[in-house]
Amino acid sequence: MTKTLQVLLAERPTGLPTADTWSVVTTELPPLTAGQMLVKISFISLDPAMRGWLNDVRSYLPPVGIGEVMRALDIGTVVESRHPDFAVGDTVSGTFGVTEYAISDGRGVQRVDLNAASGPTWLGALGMPGMTAYFGLLEVGKLQPGDTVLVSAAAGAVGSVAGQIAKAKGATVIGIAGGAEKCRMLTEELGFDAAIDYRAGNVLRQVREVAPDGIDIYFDNVGGEILDAALANLRRGARVVLCGAISAYNEQKPPPGPSRYMSLLVFRASMIGFVVFDYADRYPEAGAQLARWLAEGRIKSREHVVEGGVAQFGDTLNMLFTGANTGKLVLAL
Ligand SMILES: NC(=O)c1ccc[n+]([C@@H]2O[C@H](COP(=O)([O-])OP(=O)(O)OC[C@H]3O[C@@H](n4cnc5c(N)ncnc54)[C@H](OP(=O)(O)O)[C@@H]3O)[C@@H](O)[C@H]2O)c1
Repeated sequence: MTKTLQVLLAERPTGLPTADTWSVVTTELPPLTAGQMLVKISFISLDPAMRGWLNDVRSYLPPVGIGEVMRALDIGTVVESRHPDFAVGDTVSGTFGVTEYAISDGRGVQRVDLNAASGPTWLGALGMPGMTAYFGLLEVGKLQPGDTVLVSAAAGAVGSVAGQIAKAKGATVIGIAGGAEKCRMLTEELGFDAAIDYRAGNVLRQVREVAPDGIDIYFDNVGGEILDAALANLRRGARVVLCGAISAYNEQKPPPGPSRYMSLLVFRASMIGFVVFDYADRYPEAGAQLARWLAEGRIKSREHVVEGGVAQFGDTLNMLFTGANTGKLVLAL
């Protein structure tokens, strides 16, 4: 019998999750049956989408139930196996949850090579955020060389990769992030052409100053007022890629609609939402390209690794909503 510490959803939060949202329990896992394996978790991915999974609403995945282990993507090591395709010692990624150990039947599980990249990178630039940036920009945004691209939450997991892909493809790239240090990192370390600190105010005017001719793609990770500022600065035929709206995830009422939506008409623009899972059959293509760019130094992977136990999950998750992370946020057990 294996004992594991796990984080369960105790109650649905109304706003930012609190300590009451979670319960940390010790569970005894049953012995493996044929076709199962036991995975010891080393890295847990923290994702803004987790906040959405706590709401009892219709979405692209069912909500996490009260009393269920919190859903999370992880990297771990197979420590016991009765599965024909996975052996003890394999490093794997999968949706194992916020737990120290998990039993898996192998569905949705991939083997990862820690010689090729670290666990946090497999959860970041080479994982779901990297895929999101790749397909959001190239397939949904239909990036063209010479485009002017604006990315919000640009110092985060998805945004930092999206901006660097755009640069690698010959675009002019402007990032929006919170604070001078994140903006410095974008231009000096990640090669963005310009960075806008939204906390310094008047994003609409700041975008106009750095992109007087307007923007061709707005890669939206935050929604709200920043989306409006982008809509006010579109160029004819622009594409607004609706990737996320983190500014609204903890709001208790639906946010007001984008007040500048008539820009879509005026500039013959489009605004398209997407969910990265719809591109799952093309992850190998994106993964290979992203790995090439990383090896060539055209993309740098930024990760923010918090060391701790599963009990730190709640506090670590909230770092996404205060902007305390730079790059992909990961809890290392
Ligand atoms: N469509 C999809 O399939 C898909 C897949 C993955 C992720 N996403 C979305 O992509 C977005 C980014 O996810 P991520 O994993 O890369 O997270 P992340 O950007 O690494 O972390 C979230 C960042 O959002 C910013 N933020 C938080 N509250 C904000 C607010 N009120 N206004 C403006 N910025 C705020 C913070 O940066 P600052 O310090 O700059 O404020 C924070 O660091 C999220 O909206 C997520 O839901 C979508």
